[in-house]
Amino acid sequence: MAGDADVVVAAKKPYYFELVAGRTYYWCACGRSRKQPFCDGSHKGTGIEPLAYKATAAEEVLLCACKKTGTPPFCDGSHNNLSEVYDRDDPDSPANRAIPMIAADADGKARLNGGCAVCTIEPETLERKGVLGHRRIIGAEDGALHQSLFYLECARGVSPVVGFGDRHVVLFVSAGVGRVVIAGRSFPIDTNAGAYVRPGETFCLENDGEAPFKVFAAACPRADAIEWHEAMASNFDDKLPKRVVGLDRHARHTMGDRFFQMLVDKSIGSDVATQFIGDIPLSKATPHRHLYEESLIILSGEGCMWTEEKKAPVRAGDVIFLPRKQLHSLECTDPGGMLVVGVIYPGDNPSINY
Ligand code: FES
Repeated sequence: MAGDADVVVAAKKPYYFELVAGRTYYWCACGRSRKQPFCDGSHKGTGIEPLAYKATAAEEVLLCACKKTGTPPFCDGSHNNLSEVYDRDDPDSPANRAIPMIAADADGKARLNGGCAVCTIEPETLERKGVLGHRRIIGAEDGALHQSLFYLECARGVSPVVGFGDRHVVLFVSAGVGRVVIAGRSFPIDTNAGAYVRPGETFCLENDGEAPFKVFAAACPRADAIEWHEAMASNFDDKLPKRVVGLDRHARHTMGDRFFQMLVDKSIGSDVATQFIGDIPLSKATPHRHLYEESLIILSGEGCMWTEEKKAPVRAGDVIFLPRKQLHSLECTDPGGMLVVGVIYPGDNPSINY
């Protein structure tokens, strides 16, 4: 019987592939095939057999190349843990030294390659509705297709009722303490906690203190504007009672020398809009891509966001928009590390990269 030790790592990154609906593929499980990621018969004598997979739909997928995945034939991010250190790039290599640092445009956005942008939030640019300051940070103007991000700042009092129609809404509290009322049900929520609002539900923010209650709201798929409601419908989905998730050291996943913790994910009913919080040590990641669209908020520390031909500084409070398939690398230049929170959509695993 073949064991894990008999499996050869064909590559440390998955293979991007476009499946054809109805076709059956034979994924190489042994790692020896010269026609990766598919079987060429080289497994003979190893006791390992290829995995037959019939595609039910035409779709873009990442097929596991390290052969360590727990979800064969698809990548589950296991390649990130093949070494103790997350794959790094040298920011001082001759090629990287030639990449220029760019400044933000007048709207506070530094525009990198392929629609990737670093957005700085200027408090004076907020619009007001009652006690709520608000602004769209990421939207159609950035080329976003799958998600938009709004910044909400609630002064003392109760905010107007906010909705995003039939979309998933993923909230994150970046400062302050208060309550989020979702479809008539009230949840206390603290700094660095995430919350999930189901499609069709609305929410408001409550702040009893003097310090502003700062909340990011990601709408998935993209919403171009906030819907303001006169009253909140009491249509809370009782089948999914847990909606707020805070930091929990025991819920951390490792990824090389990094960690991340899922906040809003399928464990609380959000299958395709996923929020995670994680740390990045002093380092520059090897450039890579994702199949999901991502918004990333820098919570502490500073660094630099790189694409093929441009880079821009990032610091606490900034937001990064990352389109699907855009090559990128986030560098932390802070000896104390960088804390980030991200929303990916559509996707359920932020460690899957290629
Ligand atoms: S060659 Fe690897 S499973 Fe067939």
